[in-house]
Amino acid sequence: MKDIEITESIKYVGADDKTLDLFESQYIIPNGISYNSYIIHDKKIVIMDTIDKRKTDEWMENIEKELNGKSPEYLVISHLEPDHAANIKLLSDKYPQMKLVGNKLTFNMLPQFFDIDLTDKKVVVSEGDVIDIGEHKLQFFMAPMVHWPEVMVTYEQTEKVLFTADGFGKFGALDADEDWTCEARRYYFNICR
Ligand SMILES: [Fe+2]
Repeated sequence: MKDIEITESIKYVGADDKTLDLFESQYIIPNGISYNSYIIHDKKIVIMDTIDKRKTDEWMENIEKELNGKSPEYLVISHLEPDHAANIKLLSDKYPQMKLVGNKLTFNMLPQFFDIDLTDKKVVVSEGDVIDIGEHKLQFFMAPMVHWPEVMVTYEQTEKVLFTADGFGKFGALDADEDWTCEARRYYFNICR
């Protein structure tokens, strides 16, 4: 695992993939790709997204190490595309008390991907809603068609961190030594618009 600290209480738990030839079966990624996921430590612990199934084991190891025996209170689902979301059911089954946070469209689309009983699990947020997890306050903003219709971004107000789903993304693993703007531009034109 890359030991990446976003802030003292926000940790990266995603994974790089350097074994994939074509992202979405069509875009070359000579320097790989990263599947991003984060944990926010607070009175209530939050996991942001659940990455691609190609890296489930590494991601789950990262999660368990960060949780250190604790249980997450919420999973925030920014985007349902499988590279962000393949492990929603796995995580939900592992932590059955964990709530799933998404918007109306997230939960309209979710049954197409997973058979999860959402009774007592579903937290539906709308534009500007805030979830208070202790020191941190998560505010949600809809970003429809920043790739798919259900996409939303999360702004953590206390530390001023924006979790952007596909927005501002780029191709390339996290340690890729390459021109940032060129790969960010290629990602923007192919994925985000
Ligand atoms: Fe996407």
